[in-house]
Amino acid sequence: DCRPVTGALQTCYRREKAEYANVNWDELGFALTKIDYMYVMNFTQGDEKFSHGTLTRFGNIQLCPSSGILNYGQDLMMKKEWWYQGLFEGLKAYRKADERILLFRPEENALRMKMGADRMCMPSPTVEQFVDAVRKTVLANKRWVPPHGRGSLYIRPLLIGTGQNLGVKPASEYTFLVYASPVGSYHKGELNLLVEDKVHRATPGGTGGIKAVTNYSPVYKTLTQAKARGFSDVLFRDALTGSNIEEGSACNIFILKGNVISTPTADGTILPGITRKSIMGLASGFGYQVEERALRIDEVFDAEEVFCTGTAMVVKPVASITYQGKTIEYKQGAETVAQRLYATLTGIQTGLVEDKLGWTM
Ligand code: COI
Repeated sequence: DCRPVTGALQTCYRREKAEYANVNWDELGFALTKIDYMYVMNFTQGDEKFSHGTLTRFGNIQLCPSSGILNYGQDLMMKKEWWYQGLFEGLKAYRKADERILLFRPEENALRMKMGADRMCMPSPTVEQFVDAVRKTVLANKRWVPPHGRGSLYIRPLLIGTGQNLGVKPASEYTFLVYASPVGSYHKGELNLLVEDKVHRATPGGTGGIKAVTNYSPVYKTLTQAKARGFSDVLFRDALTGSNIEEGSACNIFILKGNVISTPTADGTILPGITRKSIMGLASGFGYQVEERALRIDEVFDAEEVFCTGTAMVVKPVASITYQGKTIEYKQGAETVAQRLYATLTGIQTGLVEDKLGWTM
């Protein structure tokens, strides 16, 4: 049922006491729970911008078998003979203790999608359109936003080439779609990482610095193999020298040594994470010297703490890293800097810590 939503939204606005969907919130992992509505906005050849965005019932979408996203993970646009890919974003809505809902830095995701679209020469929604679509999606699905402290609503905006594209010819359509799902932890248990020896996630001049759909599936194989060996994730090295650590399959990485917190420079092969950026800000505020630079593998082994960040992951201390048969274990628990950063970030996201920087909406 893809009819536009009007009545349901109005009812949503009027409700005073939160009503919740029938979900076992304590059992949530990171998987899709089908919510009520999604938001769809289109761009057709000849248009100047995305327009006529609307909420529709959550459900399957129709695509021509020759749509760019299905055939190449890509599409073409207008008269330029370049390739274009699908992009996605990820952000979260949290329930405050008073049951109101907070979004965390949605305009940062909007800007990152614009940056990715620019890199790929795709049209993109404006920041206002993006944030408005996210707000509408969350409000229409507010019964799926978990109760305070029991998870979050993960919001997934997509930008895809939906026009026909059998061969190399201009695309006719793009679709911006926002859906969501209540989620719990991305990784339950300890984070034990394996440094990948052969496969690289990104190359200089490639698309590692944007959220292109094709950045993620090429690492499935190596991730599956690592999981079969008991590891939780893979750490990728830089493709040029192989001496530096870049990031995990879906998270950024930080190391702590003394008063210095370091993370690889986001210069094209690293995803400029919004959690990464927020943690850098919080850590500076706590008095740490925060550096973005190349991180050699031996420095990672020498670190006092290592932690990963991401919207899905939030901030998670690394328990161990294994490279070429050697395993190093790191400090865990309540006394870690990672835990202090986690508590402050999630405090801001859930309204428990004053948001002095204006990060929430
Ligand atoms: C996120 O952390 O939001 C991501 O996009 C990573 C992953 C779930 C693909």
